[in-house]
Amino acid sequence: MDFQRQTNRRLYEEHAATLQLLARAERVFTGRAGGYPPMTGDPAWPAFARALLTAIEVEVARHFEFEERDLFPRLEQAGDGDLAVLLNEEHVTIRAVARPLAGLLRQALGEGLQPQQWQAMKTLALEFSERLGSHAQKEDGALLPLLDNLLDEDTDRELFGAYAAG
Ligand SMILES: [Fe+2]
Ligand SMILES: [Fe+2]
Repeated sequence: MDFQRQTNRRLYEEHAATLQLLARAERVFTGRAGGYPPMTGDPAWPAFARALLTAIEVEVARHFEFEERDLFPRLEQAGDGDLAVLLNEEHVTIRAVARPLAGLLRQALGEGLQPQQWQAMKTLALEFSERLGSHAQKEDGALLPLLDNLLDEDTDRELFGAYAAG
């Protein structure tokens, strides 16, 4: 997709990276990537679990906070408050599954899980993937084109600079 604002290009890239990770998560949790639950000692599992945990706790968290703090209020001011409310609500429902999922991932990497917890983690992960995947696609289709018109060059530079600097 072609955006003139670097803030939008960055968000679009992050959505694409997220969708890729979610596709991988779906393969892992449905057993299409070598069986689920993973065998004890499977070297691919901890690497994947750490990547998913970091995505939830660092990348997705930071991305959501940026949208909520710096973008949704601008949408509201521009008269697109309904979309801002909807996207904000989706963040809430995504966090509601992300939190227990992160807890189980951390436990899986630490002391390990009981059989029913592996099942619970699968259910949460697939729900997380569905909610976040459709959210990212909705933002690509509705939020980013709107923002591209909304942000002027100076605001874009300022927002992007602050976001990229972390
Ligand atoms: Fe979002
Ligand atoms: Fe987003």
